[in-house]
Amino acid sequence: MADVILKADNLYKHYPIKGGVLRTTTGQVKAVDGVSFELQRGETLGIVGESGCGKSTLGRVLMRLEEPTSGTVNFDGVDMYSQSGSAMRKLRRDIQIVFQDPYTSLNPRKTVGDIIGEPFEIHPDVVPKGGRKKGVQELLEMVGLNPEHINRYPHQFSGGQRQRIGIARGIALRPKVLICDEPVSALDVSVQAQVINLMEKLQDELGLSYIFIAHDLSVVRHISDRVGVMYLGRMVELGTEEQIYQRPTHPYTQALLSAVPVPDPLMRGKREQIVLTGDVPSPANPPSGCRFHTRCFKAQDRCKVDDPELIDRPDGVGEHRSACLFAEPRVIVETVDVSDVEVDTRFASTDVVDLDAFAEDDGLLPADAASVAQGSQVVGETEGPLDRPADTNRLIDDEPTEQRDPRV
Ligand SMILES: Nc1ncnc2c1ncn2[C@@H]1O[C@H](COP(=O)(O)OP(=O)(O)OP(=O)(O)O)[C@@H](O)[C@H]1O
Ligand code: SF4
Ligand SMILES: [Mg+2]
Repeated sequence: MADVILKADNLYKHYPIKGGVLRTTTGQVKAVDGVSFELQRGETLGIVGESGCGKSTLGRVLMRLEEPTSGTVNFDGVDMYSQSGSAMRKLRRDIQIVFQDPYTSLNPRKTVGDIIGEPFEIHPDVVPKGGRKKGVQELLEMVGLNPEHINRYPHQFSGGQRQRIGIARGIALRPKVLICDEPVSALDVSVQAQVINLMEKLQDELGLSYIFIAHDLSVVRHISDRVGVMYLGRMVELGTEEQIYQRPTHPYTQALLSAVPVPDPLMRGKREQIVLTGDVPSPANPPSGCRFHTRCFKAQDRCKVDDPELIDRPDGVGEHRSACLFAEPRVIVETVDVSDVEVDTRFASTDVVDLDAFAEDDGLLPADAASVAQGSQVVGETEGPLDRPADTNRLIDDEPTEQRDPRV
């Protein structure tokens, strides 16, 4: 039997909606609404889906930053939610998180050494006090940064380098599982490729298992062994990278894939466009039956009543999990792969960045630029990541805001 490191069973996370003068509970936002899956040791499980479908909530519940409304998480053979005290503290070391935005997730008033070394302060038994500076310098080296820059501040680094700092902090305690919540979404595509390559290298070196949350299907494809597609708090399709990208059976996955940029201009005309109609329903009031029926191009009367289970269904070659009553494979034209993008050599250096040199043409992106999965409509072709407009000012102008990092 495969070696499962983390198993989520029927996880629910509902947030109460308060209303009226008395602030009484008037409803529930069903952010995560019955999610089950397993993560194998050493694998990368990608989680994709439109904004608001519950990806980040799932990530927080998996590492117990929030308690679930119900359901269980088994971590390496231990029921996580029945642990307390020192057992839970020890467990926390084994599951860490890396956040999306390298501009707000690092405290601007702390040096890089303090930021990366903070987990050592919180878990003092991991590295003896005298060895912490060396430990931080080793981590800087592991993520491709210059260990001599231990006393610099986050604003002295580029976006990609800051994300490396976030990753160094994430692996400081040598966790078994790293939850990565949109770790490259705020970065230019060439920098994305570098950070992803780094994550793959660290996975090999440290035997890490990743849960890689993103809305960009191209990025997820490159790094993931398996992919789960979420819609309105549920997982609607789950399979290997090949099953999801080459023979998706759920209409929602097929629509998302049909909106991924096509690299070859000659192929663009051949790309089938699946346009989803209607807005994303509110997670406070999901539709009856199959909750995708209000936007599904294949919906039939039965879909309004029957709620399809996420179970193995035929995909033309074998079978994989899909929550569609009428699941059938559909080939969608090849997508772009970030590994093909030429690396921007300005970012390859481990030196501290000369910000003036970047000001002219740095292609840093807003967090959700070119998202294939954002918005109420998923349409056919979108602009490719290389066509994205550069936000030239953000790197130097944006003041990072202070935010306590809840990872440890
Ligand atoms: N603390 C909270 N209180 C109330 N509602 C919340 C809370 N956190 C998340 N939600 C709601 O839960 C739903 C899922 O949010 P979540 O942030 O998990 O989505 P997501 O898939 O990560 O979206 P994105 O791609 O934009 O990051 C949304 O409707 C959101 O408004
Ligand atoms: S069950 Fe019906 S509405 Fe749901 S995805 Fe399948 S065809 Fe569409
Ligand atoms: Mg999120």
